[in-house]
Amino acid sequence: MTIRIAVFDAYGTLFDVAAAARRAASEPNSTALATHWQALAQIWRDKQLQYTWLRAITGAHTDFWHVTTEALDYALEATGLGGDDALRSRLLALYRELDAYPEVPAMLQALRQAGLRSAILSNGSPDMLQAAVETAGLGADLDAILSVESVGVFKPDSRVYDLVGEHFGCNRSDVLFVSSNGWDAAGASGYGFETVWVNRAGLPVDRLPWRPAHVLPDLTRIPELASTR
Ligand code: LAC
Repeated sequence: MTIRIAVFDAYGTLFDVAAAARRAASEPNSTALATHWQALAQIWRDKQLQYTWLRAITGAHTDFWHVTTEALDYALEATGLGGDDALRSRLLALYRELDAYPEVPAMLQALRQAGLRSAILSNGSPDMLQAAVETAGLGADLDAILSVESVGVFKPDSRVYDLVGEHFGCNRSDVLFVSSNGWDAAGASGYGFETVWVNRAGLPVDRLPWRPAHVLPDLTRIPELASTR
């Protein structure tokens, strides 16, 4: 029997990476952040991803928490908020308890009810992923939380995508890989997974040699798509 496994990217796909800056901006005494939180969130995310790619291609791996911290320091300085240690600490604390997108719990439960397996495959370090999953209450509906830390390199290195087959003993074609990061969906398509690019922002498709098999606006239809493969 074919094993069907839905594998999710974590940050930006299950968890809203802008939630930390948005929430900090809504807290008392956050006047400076109130006008800059969107720029801060965007620069923080852009630099975080760029640093993962650069560390992967140069072999200079460090864990995702370290990269996230360095990217935040860049973003704070770029938005004129450098030196605010209390804000820095608050943003890092909030990053460990990001909101899941609203459709995520019911979507994972529907996958389980359909007899499918589900997992996270993420750049996140195991402790970050555990904290995010616990905060969102998703643990009971995930069969595995796979972190790049077990191979010591970031996506889209193929050794990361190998972790799925190694864990589940499945073929590449058994996997429906879901990511809101266009480059991650592209990398996973090139690897041989069937892919879904979750395009919440209505962005153009990345011009890379590999295209996502499916493009969806959010995660709601994943159980239907995974069941009808
Ligand atoms: C992850 C990043 C790419 O969770 O969002 O792997």
